[in-house]
This record gives sequence, C-alpha cells and structure tokens, in this order.
Amino acid sequence: MMSSIAGDPLRRGAGTLLLGLSGRLLVAVAWTSAALFGAYVLAFYVAAIGDGDMQRWNQTLPGLYAPETPLALIGMGAHFLTGALLLLAGPVQLMAGIRRRFPAFHRWTGRAYVLAAFVTGIGGLAFILVRGTVGGWPMDVGFGLYGVLVTLAAVETFRHARTRRLDRHRAWAIRLFALVVGSWLYRMDYGIWLMLMGRLGHSNDFTGPFDIVMAFFFYLPNLMVAEVFIRARGLMVPGGVRLLAAAGLAATAALLTIGTYYFTKFYWGPPILATLGL
Ligand code: HEM
Repeated sequence: MMSSIAGDPLRRGAGTLLLGLSGRLLVAVAWTSAALFGAYVLAFYVAAIGDGDMQRWNQTLPGLYAPETPLALIGMGAHFLTGALLLLAGPVQLMAGIRRRFPAFHRWTGRAYVLAAFVTGIGGLAFILVRGTVGGWPMDVGFGLYGVLVTLAAVETFRHARTRRLDRHRAWAIRLFALVVGSWLYRMDYGIWLMLMGRLGHSNDFTGPFDIVMAFFFYLPNLMVAEVFIRARGLMVPGGVRLLAAAGLAATAALLTIGTYYFTKFYWGPPILATLGL
C-alpha cells in the first residue's frame, strides 16, 4: 500500500510542489519576524546605550542593567548588538544564489557572521557566569548550554571553511543558523503559549514548569530538525508524507504570522517606530 502511494507520480508531484511553496512561505514569515525582533533589539537595547539610558534595559527583565558588574554589562551589551545583526543578516548567508555568484562576498560576510555569533555566545555566557539568569540554575544550565553550542558552532563553521572541508562546513553552518533562530523562537513560543494557554506553567521569576522546559526547548528541537535536514539530502520521501509535511509547515507559518502580528503591535513595533521618528 505504502509503495503505491510512494510511487504515485501525481501525488508525489503535488507533494513536492506544495512542500516547496509552504517551505518558502515559512522561511519568508520566519525571516521577516526574526528581522523585526532584531530591529527591536537595536531600537530598544542598543539605542539605550547610545542614549546613555541603560536603565531602560530593566523594563523588560530586572537586573539586565547592573553597573556594579561591568563584565556582565559589557557581555550583555555586546550580545545585544551582535545578536541583532545575526538575526538580520543570517538568511543572506544561506542563500545559494549569492554563495555561488559572489563567493568573496559570502566569505567576508561569513567571517563577520561567525565572529558575531562567537561574541554573542561569549557575551551571554559572561552574563550568566557573573550574574546568573532571572530563572536560577535550570535557566542558567539551559541558556549556558545554548551559549556553549552557539560558540562551538561558530568556531566549527569557521574552522571547516578554512580547511575547505565543505560538507562539514555546511553542516555546522546549518546548526549555527538553527541555534541563532532559537533566540527569536524563544519569544515566539512564549507569545503563542500565553495567547493559547494564558499563564499556565509560567511565573514572573521564570521558575514555572513551562519556563524550565522553555530554557531548553527553544534550541534543542531546532537542532534536531537541522540534523534531519543535514542527513536527509537526496532522500526519497513518499508523496503522502510530503503533503502532510506541507500542511504542517503552512500551519506553523500561519501561527507565526499571528504571533508576529501581536508582538509587533504591542512590543517590537513602538520602539522601532520611535527610532525611525514615526
Ligand atoms: C542570537 C541572537 C540573540 C539575540 C537577538 C538575543 C537577544 C536577547 C534579548 C533581547 C534579551 C533581553 C530579554 C528580552 O527582551 O527577552 C536577552 C537576554 C539574555 N540572553 Fe540573549 N540573545 C541572543 C543570543 C543569546 C545567546 C547565544 C546567549 C548565550 C548564553 C544568550 C543569553 C542571554 C541571557 C543570559 C540573557 C539574560 C536573561 C536573564 O536576565 O535572565 N542570548 N537576549
């Protein structure tokens, strides 16, 4: 039965087409949303440094700005700037057309991307080591592992590009991208959860059951998807599975669009518009 579905060329053709379309839709929604989050980080956190009003950082999380621990302060500031750049520039680095047509551009932006990822990881880790996160040790462990993985993926992406081991370079670049996207997904997951479930499992000090799961859940699933993607190159997938995957991607894109709308309206949009003088 399964082989007749797998062998049905009509269903396979439709599945491939819809999977391609829904995949592109999801990438477009995710990039737009992540870029809006990156622009918000620049407009709110980085602009506060320029304005000399870093107390503003504490409006979102208490203790983000603490002048008595300069190492944590520098780490956080650097992590805001480079983290935002990663979100804005990441997809350009993955575009095959640009990679093929402008290899020198890809190399230079790649070096900047990897350096920014390294600084983001080390900056976040410095903050955790000096001050600790709002949620205590479970969140320290979750975010700490995240920082270690981002830093490792940045180093490995660079190292394998230097030695021209391009298959490994590609695999680490995909892992790095999946990890970076996590910083945006963390906010989206919270937004969608609060929208659907209210404050169930969440507490103000981020020690609720949902908060503890989320300390890991914003990057481990992405890494698993990245692993599947890295290994599934050229795999023959039955038409029915493709159709199912296409429906899943389209539904995710719809959920992210709703989440992005509310985030932009109430949270990211106002500082971005204020920075633009609108
Ligand atoms: C990849 C891009 C990243 C961006 C755009 C980003 C952005 C942010 C933002 C905006 C905040 C402030 C809280 C909020 O508004 O939600 C924050 C907090 C934080 N980030 Fe990141 N981040 C990124 C990556 C990382 C990485 C790799 C680490 C590594 C450990 C990290 C560790 C932290 C920590 C520890 C906090 C403070 C949490 C607390 O106060 O308890 N971030 N980040």
